[in-house]
Amino acid sequence: MEDHEKGYFTEKDSADVVIGRNKNAKDERLKEVMAVIIRKLHEAVKEIEPTQKEWLDAIMFLTRTGQMCTDWRQEFILLSDTLGVSMLVDAINHRKPDAASESTVLGPFYVEDAPELPLGTNICLDRKGQDMVISGVVRDTSGRPIPNVKLDVWQTNDDGFYDVQQKGLQPDFNLRGVFRTDNTGNYWFRAVKPRFYPIPDDGPVGQLLAKLGRHPYRPAHLHFIISADGFETLTTHIFDPDDPYIDSDAVFGVKKSLLAKFVRVDDSARAQQLDFDNPFWEVKFDFVLAPK
Ligand code: BEZ
Ligand code: FE
Repeated sequence: MEDHEKGYFTEKDSADVVIGRNKNAKDERLKEVMAVIIRKLHEAVKEIEPTQKEWLDAIMFLTRTGQMCTDWRQEFILLSDTLGVSMLVDAINHRKPDAASESTVLGPFYVEDAPELPLGTNICLDRKGQDMVISGVVRDTSGRPIPNVKLDVWQTNDDGFYDVQQKGLQPDFNLRGVFRTDNTGNYWFRAVKPRFYPIPDDGPVGQLLAKLGRHPYRPAHLHFIISADGFETLTTHIFDPDDPYIDSDAVFGVKKSLLAKFVRVDDSARAQQLDFDNPFWEVKFDFVLAPK
């Protein structure tokens, strides 16, 4: 029997020694997952050859990341987001037919109990920023419009904050709402032109981004969770392609198919109909849901 098979540690066989110790695990999936993680982690350590100080620094970084977490701040998810892992897990779990709309990250600012509102409602309760109307059709992969689709939408206000980040400063449910498509699969609502904003960057993840020469900004976007009986629920955004951060989203959420057209409309009669200032912004964006 070789030394590592007895369980004695060697640099060369380090991963096998540790993985072998888990042989009695009852949960096969856990055993498999831990084997992969241990193997890759040992590979990384062998390639990096950290000093003891560097390894302690890494552990202290993870410690601070955990210490930053509260009921409303999840620094580990932010770490996963900024390393592209959230988007990778999302991609693996939402492989869709080519015709279907693509998904992207949920983000930490979703609120479950936003009010259900009639189509056309203006969800911008603080009335700051540039007026914007958003409309489109939700279809199945054969192109048929789907009635009664639920669209749960949320976005930041003109200062780049979600209502839940500024409780007491912004009206509750500012720039949030749930809409349902009409009989022809159409949806529409009024809001405000979104702006780029930083992900929460006052913690260890923000410090890491700065050390890596990265900014913390997400390009302007609107969030959607779109659901209907018989279809896969779609969690996605639409993005402003003219945003300065469109090619460098801090959390890698941008996909080409999610770029919308933000059109500046100069039409005082329409502005008046919409109870908007003139000029205003218009976005038309259709979604396609994959069957369950
Ligand atoms: C967001 O778009 O709300 C978001 C996504 C990931 C991290 C932080 C914010
Ligand atoms: Fe967002």
